[in-house]
This record gives sequence, C-alpha cells and structure tokens, in this order.
Amino acid sequence: MGNTQTAPAPAPAAAGSPPSGELKQTGTLEIKDSRTDKAYSVQIVQGGVEGDTATRAMDLRQIKTAPDEFGLMTYDPAFMNTASCKSAITFIDGDKGILRYRGYPIEQLAEKATFLEVAWLLRHGELPAQKEYDQWVRDITFHTYVHENIKTFLQGFRYDAHPMSMLCSTVAALSSFYPEAKNIHDPDQRNISIIRLLAKLPTLAAFCYRHIKGLPFIYPDNDLSYVENFLSMVARMSEPKYEANPVFVKALEILFILHADHEQNCSTNAVRAVGSSQVDPFSAIAAGVAALYGPLHGGANEQVLRMINEIGHPKNVPAFIDEVKGGKGGRLMGFGHRVYKSYDPRAKIVKALADEVFKQVGMDKDLEIALKLEDAALHDDYFVSRKLYPNVDFYTGLIYRSMAFPTDFFTVLFAVARTAGWLAQWEELLNDKEQKIARPRQIYVGYGERPYQSKLAQRFPTLKKDALRK
Ligand code: CMC
Repeated sequence: MGNTQTAPAPAPAAAGSPPSGELKQTGTLEIKDSRTDKAYSVQIVQGGVEGDTATRAMDLRQIKTAPDEFGLMTYDPAFMNTASCKSAITFIDGDKGILRYRGYPIEQLAEKATFLEVAWLLRHGELPAQKEYDQWVRDITFHTYVHENIKTFLQGFRYDAHPMSMLCSTVAALSSFYPEAKNIHDPDQRNISIIRLLAKLPTLAAFCYRHIKGLPFIYPDNDLSYVENFLSMVARMSEPKYEANPVFVKALEILFILHADHEQNCSTNAVRAVGSSQVDPFSAIAAGVAALYGPLHGGANEQVLRMINEIGHPKNVPAFIDEVKGGKGGRLMGFGHRVYKSYDPRAKIVKALADEVFKQVGMDKDLEIALKLEDAALHDDYFVSRKLYPNVDFYTGLIYRSMAFPTDFFTVLFAVARTAGWLAQWEELLNDKEQKIARPRQIYVGYGERPYQSKLAQRFPTLKKDALRK
C-alpha cells in the first residue's frame, strides 16, 4: 500500500509444478478517495498457476478521512467475493466446470483412485506411495471401533430422529472420549485424531442407520475395505460374512471421491471458522456436519428426492417448472451452485454412474421425471439466463435409493466422504501462519446510545408458589 511502482507480473508456473503457497504481487490498483482527494495504491496479488487475483482487504483500512478513524472495510454478506484463506487443496473453475484435487482432475480420480488414496492426497498433497498407503489403510481400518458408550448414547435418540442430527451429536460426543485431541499443535495428536475421525465416521453413520431401522448395531469387519465395511455395518443381518454387491461398492467409492472436498463451501467454512478457535477436531468436524445438514448444502440430495416424489409423474414436470419460476414451488433442488456457472463436473460423472448402476439393478422408477426436469430446465430461459445447471446432488439420490438407503440418510453419506476434505482443510488452517481466529466485522445499523428505562414492573419478581400450576 502506498507504493506506486508496479511490480512485473511473475512468470506463470508450469502446469503440474509444485505450489509455492505464496501470493505474488502482479500489479497495483490505484484508488482515489473523493472524500479527501487522496490517492492510494493497493497491491494486486495472485495465487498459483491459475490462481485468483485479489487485494488484501486489510490494505483498505489505510483509507480514512482522519487518523483516528477505523478506515474502510469491505461489506460482503455470504462471502460472495471474499477469499478467507490461501489453499492448495482443491481448485475449481466454475465457468469451465473444472474440479481438481491437488491438481488431479476429478474425472481421473473418480475413474482410477480409491477413496482412502484420495483422503491421503487431500491431506498430504501427493499421492501415497504403496508403503504409505498400506500403513494409512491399516491405521484407518484398526480405528473403526467406537467406545461402547456411544451405543448407549445413540439409543437415547427417538426412533424417528433424523440421522444427520444423530451423526452431528455423536461426532461432537467423540470429543469427550479423546480429551487429548485438544492438543492440536502436537502433530502426533493431530494425526491420530484425523485417523480416528476417518475411521469412525462410517461406523457412526452405520449405527445411526441401524438405530432408525430398529436393528442391532453391527461391529466393523477389519477384513473388508473402507466401503465394503461400511455397507456391511449398514446391511448385514445374520450372515457370518457380508458380501456387498460389487456394483454398489464401486458406485459408493466413486461417490465418496466426488464428495471428498469442494474448497470453501458452507460446511468447510464452518469447520475452518470453528477450528480457528483452536478447539479439538471432533468439535470442528461436528460443526461441518451441522452445516452440511442444511437443504441448500448437503441436505439438497434428500430434498431432490422429496421434490421428485412430489412431482409424481413426468407429465407434471412443466407445471412444476412454472411454479418454481413463479416463486411458488420453492427452488429446483439439485440445481444451481455458487461457484459453478456451467455443468457441475461431478454431476456429469454421477449421471453416467447412475446409468451404470441402473443397468445392473434396474431403472429407477423416477429417472424419467429427473431427466425431464433436467431437460426442461436446460432449455428454459429462467434457468439458462441464471446459469443454473444440475449440481452433484441432482442424481445422487436416485443412486442411493437404488441401494436401498432411506432418503433421510443421503446427507449422512455425503458427510462420511466430506470428512476427508474437512480434515485436510482443518490441518491446512492450523499450519497457515497467516490464520487467526475467524472473526468477521459487521456494519452496525442499530440504535445509537440511549438510556435504559425498564418496561418491567419489578426488577426481580418473586415467583408465587402456585404460579407454575396456573
Ligand atoms: N431453482 C430456482 N431458482 C434458483 C435456484 C434453483 N435451484 N438456484 C438459484 N436460483 C435463482 C435465484 O432465485 C436467483 O434468482 P434472482 O436473481 O431472480 O433472484 C438466482 O438464481 C441466483 O441465486 P442465488 O440464491 O443468489 O445463488 P447462490 O449462489 O446464493 O445459491 C445455491 C447457490 C446452491 C444455494 C442455489 O443455487 C440453490 O438454492 N440451489 C438449490 C439447492 C441445492 O441444490 N444445493 C446443493 C448445492 S451443490 C452441493 C453442495 O456443495 O452443497
């Protein structure tokens, strides 16, 4: 700030070169304050290979009309245009429909990687070598059991409790079982907490499922892969060894990869904001689960199926679209995205995956409604002009239903997968020297100072003995 010299633009880093993590100055922005006639120059900084261009919001604080004034700040409800961190984990180009984890295109990871390989990649920045992968899988496999008291805790929920409520509470409760997890600056503690969370999320999720179904809890089977073990804990009955349908195993592995991270979305922002208070990771991840539950975020997959059920028949699609456009039918769930202004690349993969799954298990009865909805929206000016395309949640529900998961449970599946991203983002936050406790500013629009004048008859009214009975 204040430097009027323009720095030369840095040479672009070669594709695939390791990220430096630095913000490079690429120029300056000249600002003139009409209140004072003073001119300021603000640095323009840029991230990595295709990094976003930004200015540091704190630079604006120098712009003031008097030395003791607070200075300018930015007003940005819902973080529409504010970067809250530097991150080297996930790259999205919303206009081009590109999604990459640590530089690897999502399409390639979905086709070739395993979910635990992706979880390692998100956390460490590189694909694991065989030895690292084997140890990682082994560690996660051997931490899948939860304390027996968790079962008692879950049994306290009503039979019709929403599984996301149960999951959120049990993840938070885990914090009380591992008080040492508070030592977040100890890398060993961080490591074991990350392993525990990745290992226990499927167990907690499956226990929530069994509770709502009134079925006995099934313990983890350490001979099985991550996804197979999860399906075993969900579906096993009296058979001594559960053998999952390989089509479902493959589909869930891919869906977990697609959901593993998505940069600074609502729930990741919640994990980072809560984590910035230096609370233990179980509490921070519980905040992520809570944020994901909402219908505008992860809860949309559940809402898509409810919407399709309500539409009921392909012939009702045009009337429903008209209702949405007229503001009466709510939103077209599974459509639109804050960042993607073209087809969500995950939705493309999910749509193809749905075809594959339905070939094996038979067509979903409502696929026609979904296809008709998509077609109608993609050809309707309301949706086209607002750049509203199907997002990841549009077709996932139909796949989950074909696997016999109840609608309430869809967002839980999202949460299990997103835990990998939340943890990678949480650790990145802790290692970022520029991060502090998250504490946004506000623009106060309330009353000025005014004297207190009580409207109560008495300051501390005594409760009459029989008042509660009235
Ligand atoms: N159906 C109908 N209209 C929509 C929709 C929709 N699904 N989404 C946005 N709009 C309209 C909105 O009414 C507004 O119109 P106008 O300019 O006339 O006021 C315009 O499009 C811009 O919408 P916005 O609310 O400013 O956009 P946003 O970036 O704040 O919201 C969103 C993004 C995902 C919350 C929103 O598109 C939405 O509510 N979609 C449905 C819920 C959904 O599918 N969520 C899952 C997101 S993907 C999974 C995840 O990562 O969570």
